[in-house]
Amino acid sequence: MNNVIAIDGPAGAGKSTLARLLARKLKYRYLDTGAMYRAVTWLALRENIDLDNIQGLTSLANNIDIEFSPPSGDRKGRIYVNGNDVTEEIRTPLINKNVSKVARVKGVRDAMVRQQRKLAQGGHIIIDGRDIGTRVVPDAEFKFFITASLEERARRRYTELKEKGTGVNFQEVKAEIARRDKIDSERECSPLTKPEDAFLIDTTGMSIDEVLTRVINIIRTGGQDL
Ligand code: DC
Repeated sequence: MNNVIAIDGPAGAGKSTLARLLARKLKYRYLDTGAMYRAVTWLALRENIDLDNIQGLTSLANNIDIEFSPPSGDRKGRIYVNGNDVTEEIRTPLINKNVSKVARVKGVRDAMVRQQRKLAQGGHIIIDGRDIGTRVVPDAEFKFFITASLEERARRRYTELKEKGTGVNFQEVKAEIARRDKIDSERECSPLTKPEDAFLIDTTGMSIDEVLTRVINIIRTGGQDL
């Protein structure tokens, strides 16, 4: 699919920062699919749906109304669930802790993938997640798999949370990311794996600018400079 860029990788690898910068540079839209699974988790918790209730979660995912408003100027993009602005609330430790459990439910994934494919129509879009190159848009024009060591991903997430003023402990953040990696990679339905035809970038020790430059070079040259 022309003009569609898929970015997959584990939590804290820097996918969303990269996707946002790339979208601005290429004047593409940006779809954060992790935010959609977080949105379903937010609503499930609000409606007191047991996270082991597969049918309840599936039905919720089939009926949820998720809307994105794009960034403009200095204003960040926002995400709405059934009309509520949940942009900040979907990033709390409570959601971090529960989202992988919701994201492993097949009915939830099927509903989200359907919406993601619809949003991808028309191209000129960067989509990030865990199954974008393998399932959502397997024919994306470019696929990237962005990763980094567990230590570095935990350090980045820890810094991000601390800057937001969330009281966090490094070892806890690291354990949480390791736990999510395990669930996301071992689940039955479209687990996190590198698509065979994706460019692999290990960002350990790289700055975001270096990562961005590498990705843009690959896009410009079709990967010939590797
Ligand atoms: O990228 P993130 O941390 O916001 O993602 C939140 C969770 O959603 C993550 O634990 C895995 C899941 N996820 C997924 O299963 N498939 C996607 N395409 C995106 C996210």
